[in-house]
Amino acid sequence: MSVSFGRKIQAVIDRIRGKERQTDPADAWSRSPDDARRLVQPAGALEALFYGHRGRIAQKWHHYLEIYERHFEPLRQQEEPLRILELGVSRGGSLEVWRKYFGPRARIVGIDIDPECAQRVDPENTVIIGDQSDPAVLSAAIERLGGAIDLVIDDGSHLGRHQIPTFEYLYPRISERGIYVCEDLHCSYWPTHEGGLGRSGTFAEHTKTLIDRLQGWYLDGEAQAAAMPFAETTYGIFFYLDVVVIEKRPIRRPFHVQMGS
Ligand SMILES: C[S@@+](CC[C@H](N)C(=O)[O-])C[C@H]1O[C@@H](n2cnc3c(N)ncnc32)[C@H](O)[C@@H]1O
Repeated sequence: MSVSFGRKIQAVIDRIRGKERQTDPADAWSRSPDDARRLVQPAGALEALFYGHRGRIAQKWHHYLEIYERHFEPLRQQEEPLRILELGVSRGGSLEVWRKYFGPRARIVGIDIDPECAQRVDPENTVIIGDQSDPAVLSAAIERLGGAIDLVIDDGSHLGRHQIPTFEYLYPRISERGIYVCEDLHCSYWPTHEGGLGRSGTFAEHTKTLIDRLQGWYLDGEAQAAAMPFAETTYGIFFYLDVVVIEKRPIRRPFHVQMGS
């Protein structure tokens, strides 16, 4: 049974039981493409591309585009072909946008749990159907990318119970100057998405523990041992409205120095 057919059945069951499904709170923040085009003067290459996109439907919050350009532009300049994984394919448009932005040499794989997404992909991209938190699915995606990843964009279920294991599996497997992005952090605060302020198990709460892991150099004992794989490979964690970006880079032992007489 397809996921969308399953959703329709569930909606009928919910109606019979008198239990309407909650609408997605994100709907209250959406604008039509024409409306958005009127509001926006595209500032960078990605914004220009996104607002000029006429293919399959891609859905992004406007302010993500500037954040992405800031972090992705150095990767785009890399000589080696980039290996990109997006979790959450939906209508297939975002894979098309990434293809236009990163160019013909990039390898692009998407993962989605909805089997219909297998139909929503161009031949130059790949879609794998499965659960984003399933290590077998993630390992198949890495294989399709040629054995490594440079960029992960998590726009999948937006539930901490998927986002956290996905991150913990993928992050160590990202190349040494790669980037991990998790979109739609607002879901960590929305009860519709198993979220709530300070609620344990959300991705927002998980990222707070990464702050301690980043400072692993200054911890002791077991806490330090657990933190060092992240501390030694992470350049920074960048928090934005709705988005967290984690940039990798080999980090040598910190030192401080006094110059001058
Ligand atoms: C917000 S949409 C993705 C939008 C797309 N990235 C874009 O920018 O146009 C989220 C997608 O995640 C998929 N999804 C939900 N739970 C998932 C899971 N556990 N594993 C993989 N995909 C999942 C849904 O089927 C849906 O297509």
